[in-house]
Parts: sequence; structure tokens; C-alpha cells
Amino acid sequence: MTHPDVLKAAQDNLWMHFTRHGSYAGAEVPMIVRGEGAYVYDVHGKRYLDGLAGLFVVQVGHGRAELAEAAAKQAQELAFFPLWSYAHPKAAELAHRLAELTPGDLNRVFFTTGGGEAVESAWKLAKQYFKIQGKPMKTKVVSRSIAYHGTPQGALSITGIPGLKQMFEPLVPGAIKAPNTNLYRADEISGFPGFDKEPEAFGRWAADQIGKAIEMEGPDTVAAVFVEPVQNAGGCFPPPPGYFQRLREICDQHDVLLVSDEVICAFGRLGTMFGGQKFDYVPDIITCAKGLTSGYSPIGAMIVSDRLFEPFKTGNETFAHGYTFGGHPVSSAVALANLDIFEREGLLDHVTVNEPIFRATLEGLRDLPIVGDVRGAGYFYGIELVKDKSTKETFDADESERLLRGFLSKALYDAGLYCRADDRGDPVVQLAPPLIIGPKEFDEIESILRAVLTEAWNHL
Ligand SMILES: Cc1ncc(COP(=O)(O)O)c(C=O)c1O
Repeated sequence: MTHPDVLKAAQDNLWMHFTRHGSYAGAEVPMIVRGEGAYVYDVHGKRYLDGLAGLFVVQVGHGRAELAEAAAKQAQELAFFPLWSYAHPKAAELAHRLAELTPGDLNRVFFTTGGGEAVESAWKLAKQYFKIQGKPMKTKVVSRSIAYHGTPQGALSITGIPGLKQMFEPLVPGAIKAPNTNLYRADEISGFPGFDKEPEAFGRWAADQIGKAIEMEGPDTVAAVFVEPVQNAGGCFPPPPGYFQRLREICDQHDVLLVSDEVICAFGRLGTMFGGQKFDYVPDIITCAKGLTSGYSPIGAMIVSDRLFEPFKTGNETFAHGYTFGGHPVSSAVALANLDIFEREGLLDHVTVNEPIFRATLEGLRDLPIVGDVRGAGYFYGIELVKDKSTKETFDADESERLLRGFLSKALYDAGLYCRADDRGDPVVQLAPPLIIGPKEFDEIESILRAVLTEAWNHL
């Protein structure tokens, strides 16, 4: 197809995800045709800095021939075989490699095709595990306000964004919500003035709220807590100091599983292989996907502790759950080659060394009147936009609509930066670039953001 033909096909036949198709009526759909390193190119040949690694995915950057070759080689050797009572070498090797990289005794890997399926699998396993333990009432889960955990109906129940759920109610029952760790808005969230200046006290309070939710439901009915190391939706909420240590204590006290949803935070996004390693906690289950192959082929995984696999190790117990394409041979081969790149190029160290420079560069934007907060960790940041910095007043729904959808997303893209303006909580610009970038690209991101955010302010 020629370029005009694919643009027409996108208008006529393609159903894009989470997309208001009406906004493209009479306008061209943005069409990305190729990528190289940290940059992607559209159908007209225009270049964009990929400030979101596609969708928190392309850790090693675009256009890596060796990942394409790993895929081709595997497709030729064994394109497909399922993991349903059979194994193939690449899935076994990848499971072994992941088990070596995880903290603690998280040694058992159940592959999926993506993140939502990993979350779904974790909830199902938690339910079955407790049934086997003779605690059949332990079925509910606690997660945090504004967190995104995927779109299958169980994962969507766990998701804490009402606007994404309402059209699909009733969802899976038994998913309870607790406050998140938005330190910038800690006063509002907790009701305690000054908590935004006391991260440790706020962290303790926020973790204790999860404990209270468990107690209110009855610990005998709660199976798991689902949390991201750094919560993405809402605009990058890192955990305050001590938060995860307290949460681990609470989960242990109530015999509740701690599920670390690392669909974004694993594979170097925070400078560590797994997100929990950045904050010194060991969960019972890790869910991951995205960066495991840097997006060169889809895969996800639920990685569980020896304790959780124990009942399935001998006897007749079966986890009656699976996906045709879970642990696909091509994706497994690509994941192994991707992890080779991580090692060979020292990507974790690269992120850790550059993290303070990236942070400082973005912090520089705080002099703009529209920038209320800059927060995040590793190569993962959110910039919260406000109407009034002194009061932290946010934009109302109309202003947010005009600012984010009407102006910001397109203006940033037109200026050559692909990233995301999001209003699933307060309005934020999200950044999660490929892990290969450095100070030169940080400066490019900063200067585009500075120009566009200045214009956005004048636009209001
Ligand atoms: C934390 C988290 N969990 C789950 C998901 C769902 O992953 P997927 O879109 O691969 O199903 C996402 C997707 O962004 C995510 O960020």
C-alpha cells in the first residue's frame, strides 16, 4: 500500500485503542513508519524523539537488527508450540534467566502475552492458592486509587480509574481501593496539613490505609494487594521512604500476598532489573511485560515465589489457566537477546548514572508557571500541570480538555516530541524514554517541553 492508502485504511478500517476517533474526523491519523535508536519517523519522514519508549516498552531503542534476527532465527527453527503440558527451550531458558534476576525466591515463571493477562493470572492464582490452603474466603484484592492495571475484567476491577470502568460494570467483585502515594497532594489525600513536607509520615499513613482496608474487609477475605513500585497513572508517584517496608509488614501480618505490578517498572525503567529492587522489597508475585522484549515481540509474565508454587509441584493440583500465545517461542528468544543487550551495554548502570542528570534537567522546568510538580525515578517522570502554583489548584474538566486534548498532545508532537499528556488523575505530561538516551536527549526533551508549556500557559 502507498502512504495515502494506509492513511485512508487507518481512517476507514482500523480501530485504535483508547482513541476518540472523532478527533481525527477530517484530520490525518499520526502514522509512525520506522524507528532508529531513540527516534521514530512518521509517514512524511518527520523525526520525533520517542519520549515514551512507544508505551513504556522500547527499552533498548528502535531498529536493533540483532533482535529482529533473533526473532527470524527462532521462527525458522520453531515458530510455535504451546506451553500447555509441553515446553520449548527458549521459554525454559527465559524462565531460568528471569528466576536468576528476580529478588528472593521468586523462581517460578508463568508466561502470558502481555501485562493485563499477567495481572489477571496473579489474581486467579491468589484465589486458588488460598483455596488450597484451606482459606477459601480469601478472594478480595486491594489496589490504589488512580492506578492502572490493565483491561481484562479482573485487571480492570483492580484498576482504580472510575472513568475507565463505568462502561463495563459490573466487573469482577471484591476489588477494594486505598489511597496512592501522591506526595504533592498528600495534604488533600490524607487530610493532614503539611503531610506533603513529611514523606516518611505520609508513607506510613498511606501504607497503613491499605492495612485498614484489609481490616475493614476482614483479613480472612483478602487475598492480595496489587501495587506498582512507582505508580504510573496520575503521573509517577514514587513510594515515600519506608512505604514498601511497612506494606510488606502489613501483608505478612494478615497473610495477604504482595503483588508488585512491574509492567512498567521492570527491565531497567528505574535503573534496576525489577522495580522492587530499587526500593528494597521482595514481593510474593511480580507481574511484568512491556520491556522484557523491548517490544520487538509481545510477552508478559507472572513470576511467583517458591511458596506459591509449592502446592502445584507434586500431586494432582493444576493451575487451570493459560494462553495460546503465552511464552511464544519467538518472543522468548527475543527476550533472551534483549537481556543480552542489557548486560552487554550496561543499561542498568547507564540509567542509574544518568538518573540525577535527567531529573535535574526536568526539575529546571519548575520555573514555568504551569509546572506544579516534577516527580519520578530512573527514566520515568511525570510533570504535573497546575493553574496556580501557590495553591496547587488544578484545571477543571473543561480546561483540562482544552489544554491536554485541544492543545498539548498535538503541540508536543508537532514540536517533535512523542510523549503523553494524561488526565486520568490531575493533568500530567508523562516521560519514559528508551534507556539508551543521555544528556543530549534530556536537553532536547527539556527545550521542547519548555517552549510548548510556555505556549500552553499563554493559551489559557
Ligand atoms: C502497571 C500496569 N499493569 C498492567 C498493564 C496492562 O498491560 P497490557 O497493556 O500489556 O495488557 C499496564 C499497561 O500499561 C500497566 O502499566
